[in-house]
Amino acid sequence: MKKVTVVGAGSVGATCADVLAQKNFLDEVVLIDIKEGLAEGKALDIWESSAINHFDTRVVGSTNDYSKTEGSDVVVITSGIPRKPGMSRDDLISTNAKIVKSVTDNVMAASPDAIIIIISNPLDVMTYQTYLTAKLPANRVMGMAGVLDSARFRSFLSLELNVSVENIQTLVLGGHGDSMVPLPRYTTVAGIPIMDFISKERLETIVQRTRDGGAEIVKLLKTGSAYYAPSAAIVEMVEAIMKDKNKILPCSALCEGEFGLNDVFVGVPVQLGGSGIAKILEVALTAEEQKALQASAETVQSLCATVDEALYS
Ligand code: 2OP
Repeated sequence: MKKVTVVGAGSVGATCADVLAQKNFLDEVVLIDIKEGLAEGKALDIWESSAINHFDTRVVGSTNDYSKTEGSDVVVITSGIPRKPGMSRDDLISTNAKIVKSVTDNVMAASPDAIIIIISNPLDVMTYQTYLTAKLPANRVMGMAGVLDSARFRSFLSLELNVSVENIQTLVLGGHGDSMVPLPRYTTVAGIPIMDFISKERLETIVQRTRDGGAEIVKLLKTGSAYYAPSAAIVEMVEAIMKDKNKILPCSALCEGEFGLNDVFVGVPVQLGGSGIAKILEVALTAEEQKALQASAETVQSLCATVDEALYS
């Protein structure tokens, strides 16, 4: 029985459950939310599309009854409040820390062997907190950000160069925030270095648009944040795990010496398969790239220090 739970039936959670169901590689998707009827209503609605969208995945909703989530292989945590225009992801920290802590306790009681993917913001801080709360090995706890940030970078480059997005490969490392580190040096178009296609100035503009990608959507939507691309990114990670693909993706992972970083969750390239993170790929960085990654990790660490330690125990 292949089973995935999505915690939080807001826009990200519900869209994620819908896309997971449509991919048709799971037996069951459980959508759970604290708000009475919300997850049940959305799950039923998604499941009723199965006849038209050709999937057999059973989509089940639950109002905060974690017994329905028992035995999940993967649990995706989307809980928490999204930012409003003008807010940074970091402004959400105290509210979301409490929510994510209590969700993690419930998830672990029902599915002690699950792999957990965090989406709640500020992403890297919430992932670290979940790791401390869940007391799982580090390879089973990770945050989704790099896949989304890389997807945004790839989309913008594809538009700029008028080439298929499928031809563009890239890596975005660092924390999921203003300090994220897109890596032009590891960006290619059909294997050809990106610098052969674009001026340095133009590339810098696109890098900045990538850093601001989440905020651009928040500003347009006015209420809530992005959910289609985040959901697609989550599903790519779930699929890599459930199909044991050993796919190389940038994810927020615990660094314990890699890249000279210690005891911090931050976006790095990982090999993702059936047991979670099989390994972190320590790609070579220039001094400048290393400095940017270090600075990004320090930002995450100083935010982690602001979360009440009592929450972790
Ligand atoms: C984003 O970048 C919600 O943090 C997410 O859109």
